Parts: sequence; C-alpha cells; structure tokens
Amino acid sequence: MTGNTRRAFLKETAIASAAFLAPRLASGALGANDRVRVAMIGAGSRGQDLLKQVAGVPGTQVVAIADVYTRRFDEAKQIVPGIQTFDDYRRVLDLKDIDGVIVATPLHIHARHFVDTVAAGKDLYAEKTMTWSIPEAERCREAARKSDRVIQIGLQHQTGGPFADAKKWMSDGIVGKVTQVDSWMSRNTPHGQGQWVRQPPADCTAQNVGWTAFLNGRPDKGFDPYRFMNWRLFWMFSGGNVTENMIHQMAWIMGLLDLPLPAAAYMSGGVFSEKDGREVPDTIAITLDFPNDLIVTWQSTFSNRRYGLGQKILGSDGTIEYTAGATDMVSGESEEQIRYYPEKVNRPDGAAITGKSPTPSHMANWIDCMRNRKTPNAPVELGYRSAVAAHMANLSYRQKRRITLAEAKAFQPEF
Ligand SMILES: NC(=O)c1ccc[n+]([C@@H]2O[C@H](COP(=O)([O-])OP(=O)(O)OC[C@H]3O[C@@H](n4cnc5c(N)ncnc54)[C@H](O)[C@@H]3O)[C@@H](O)[C@H]2O)c1
Repeated sequence: MTGNTRRAFLKETAIASAAFLAPRLASGALGANDRVRVAMIGAGSRGQDLLKQVAGVPGTQVVAIADVYTRRFDEAKQIVPGIQTFDDYRRVLDLKDIDGVIVATPLHIHARHFVDTVAAGKDLYAEKTMTWSIPEAERCREAARKSDRVIQIGLQHQTGGPFADAKKWMSDGIVGKVTQVDSWMSRNTPHGQGQWVRQPPADCTAQNVGWTAFLNGRPDKGFDPYRFMNWRLFWMFSGGNVTENMIHQMAWIMGLLDLPLPAAAYMSGGVFSEKDGREVPDTIAITLDFPNDLIVTWQSTFSNRRYGLGQKILGSDGTIEYTAGATDMVSGESEEQIRYYPEKVNRPDGAAITGKSPTPSHMANWIDCMRNRKTPNAPVELGYRSAVAAHMANLSYRQKRRITLAEAKAFQPEF
C-alpha cells in the first residue's frame, strides 16, 4: 500500500468506526448500529489481506491479533495502528469485548482455532480449507452444530457475482441434467523459482517464532525457518494445491449443484516440475464420483498458465462456463467471466447469456450475518463437504488407489 492509499484507507476506517459508537444492547447481542469488534488469529500473508478487508467494512473495529511470529505484530500495526498483539491465541479468546474472530493460520492448526473460538462464544471467519483432516472436519462441524455462532468459511467465491449468476441459471431450469463437470487451475513461475516458495526473512529465528505452538503436536525436529514459512509444501501441515486452490472451485461446484459428499475419489500426479524438496504434488488430475450420476474432474499444473482456471458445468440443456486467467486464445488477456450456452438439441430457441452480477464482499457478508444472525454465504456444511472431498482426493493420491467415502472416513491420519 502506498503512503497515500494507506492514509485514505485509515481515514475511511476512522470515519466508519466513529459512525458506530452506539452502546451495546443490554442482552449483549449486537444491535443494528453497534460496532462489531473483531480479532484475528494468524496475521500472515492472507491474514493481513483480511485485516484490510474487515477494517474496511463500515461499523467494524479490529481490536487484536495473535500470532506466534513477532514480525507480524509490526506488520499488523502498519495496517491497524494501535492494535493489541498477543503471542498466544488464548489471550485473544479471553477478551470479553470482541464479537468475532478471524482465523488465518496454516491449515494444520485450523481445527484447534475453530473449536476453541466457538467454545469461547465468538463468531468465526475461518480460512479455507476448513480443516487438515476428515476427523477434524467432523469435530468442527459437530462443534458448530452445538453452538449458535455465525461461522463463515473463507470460500469467498461463494459470495461472487458469477456464483449468483450460475445459481440463477440452475434454478431457472435452463441447464438440464448435469452428469459431468470439468474444472482446472494452472499457474507458472520463472525457471528456478518454485511456486509458493518463500525465503525466510532474517528475523525468522527460534527467538522470534513460537515453534512449538506452530507445530501443533507434530514431531519436533528442531526449529526450521524454511518449513515454518513454507508449510504449504509439506503434508504434515498442508494438503497441497488440493486444499489451497481446488477447494475454492470444488466448493463452488458443490454449492452450485447442492452436492452431497463424493462416493469415491481418484487422484494421480506427482512432483514433476517443482523439484525443490516439496512433498505435495505440482501436477494433479482428480476425478470425484458423486452418488447422483455425476463426475467432477479437476486438473492442475504449476508449469503452464495458458488456460488460467475454470469450471464447465455440462448439462443436457445448457453449459455454464466460468473462466478466469489467461483464457483469450488471441490476445492471451486475463479476464473473469461467466457464460451460459444453450444446448440447441434440447433448447433450440435458447440464447447465450453473459453473467453480469457484481461481486460483494465476503467479509461484509460475515459482518452482516453477525448482526442479523443469518447463515453466511459459505456455511460450515459447505466447508465440511468440500474439505472431505479434498481429503478424499489426497488420500487417493497418497495411497495410489481409488478411495471410497467409507474408507476415507475410517482413515486416521498420522504426522
Ligand atoms: N481464501 C483465500 O483466497 C486464501 C488465500 C491465501 C491463503 N488462504 C489461507 O489462509 C491461511 C494462511 O495462509 P498464509 O499464506 O497467510 O500463511 P502464512 O504462513 O503467511 O500466515 C500464517 C500465520 O499464522 C501464524 N501462526 C502459525 N502458527 C500459529 C499459531 N499456533 N497461533 C497463531 N498464529 C500462528 C504464522 O506466524 C503466520 O503469521 C491458510 O489456510 C491458507 O490456505 C486463503
């Protein structure tokens, strides 16, 4: 952020905050004009994006962050001057005057922070993927079911205009029976520079990092700044590109078609391009079988980005095509768009449609729901189903075989 943009941003935030100084209702519930007070656990790369997003929602105040890396305290203060900082997330959950908590820690700690936040009586914005494993996903869903907390999963495409357009076309009945969905996601980096790789800063030392809290029960082989920064590359912390990116697209497809859990998963691929010691594959082909006459495929590579990412919903009466990234065959220009194309054999008079709905803020949707106690756009049930689908795929890859839902649910992961 430049100095000017930052000043404008802070001014906006101050105005937004000042407008909402009404006292809380006696019940402790949020009134329509109350300020919503929010804290965060895990203020790294994504967390700092979310800090800016939430501070920009009118009527909110960001009060505190917890992080195990001291560097994050200064970074968070650059975004929200005066914010309280803690090195133990439990101190944030102890704060009586906060209404909600945003969790943006690495995947392998999501479940702990999810369950403890709900137990502390706070509303929750939980980054995707909801959990690192299927047993954890079950535990989080159970905790959510037993509480009345408003929980938004960080699957922001569920709030997107393209999702709203596609949902409308589905409910208008112009897509027909869908038996196949194809999806893909692709990236590339300059030679010698691996996708996702972060160089640890000089201050990333054992003194400045709460390594044991980061490990969250994983075996301790001594402080490792590379693994701390690059947790995405290792199975004990991550689910690789399946839980980093497929999850957004799979949740979108599952939400659009109201899909139950997959019946089975197949995944092939390997570490073919990023030979830098990582464990998670860079090249992936997944097929998920769903019980109601449907297969969904997802393919991904980290060494070619020509086709960006997309989803094709193939129906008997029409196709929904969502694309983003380098999709224009002539110019190679990157653009997000959603289109509907009729299947002329079944809808001879049908016309093509381009979706135009705007994309509102997913974060603002959570804050609204905290006020009106409605269910947010990316609820726990979708977080749960998409997480199970992702873990089934990874399990298939790691066991080199087809995995059924029953097998996946019975599997107890080890570190
Ligand atoms: N929705 C999206 O589009 C999107 C985009 C990027 C990342 N994410 C998700 O956000 C999460 C974080 O990703 P990131 O790239 O910001 O990672 P990151 O490593 O940059 O940040 C994680 C932060 O958590 C802190 N942390 C680690 N252990 C902790 C603990 N026990 N208690 C408190 N803090 C702890 C780290 O110090 C770090 O600051 C991941 O789940 C990722 O999948 C979502």
